[in-house]
Amino acid sequence: MNGPNLNKLGTREPEIYGTSTLADIERLVSERACSLGAEVRSFQANGEGELIDWLQNEQSAADGLIINAGAYTHYSIALRDAVAGCSMPAVEVHISNVYRREAFRHESLLSPVCTGTIVGLGVHGYELAVEALVQLLKKN
Ligand code: DQA
Repeated sequence: MNGPNLNKLGTREPEIYGTSTLADIERLVSERACSLGAEVRSFQANGEGELIDWLQNEQSAADGLIINAGAYTHYSIALRDAVAGCSMPAVEVHISNVYRREAFRHESLLSPVCTGTIVGLGVHGYELAVEALVQLLKKN
């Protein structure tokens, strides 16, 4: 699940986020999941409510969550509550290393309710998140 402005990847601040588009990332994640015998449903929205609605609607069909909530990461209590309430393992991904950036990006309201967090590894972080999630789900 990808949050606000991530639909603009490819052209949005490429010096920070690289040149892969969201479609490239979704394809990468899907292919990696498929190679591990898993299936992925992708969703992006700019609105907090749309993200929460999607999560609530999908949660009964899903085993795990990969989430890059964009800027909502840093201030959305509502999204944090939705992730906490979806009762499945979640991996938080950030393309950029948020800890090397502005201070307001150093806090994540989501990290405490996620199983793990991957930051700063570019789009590769999404692939690593799929691998981690599949491993975690195998063990449980
Ligand atoms: C981001 C980091 C956030 O601080 C920012 O608001 C984003 C993208 C990342 O993937 O690096 O939109 O989540």
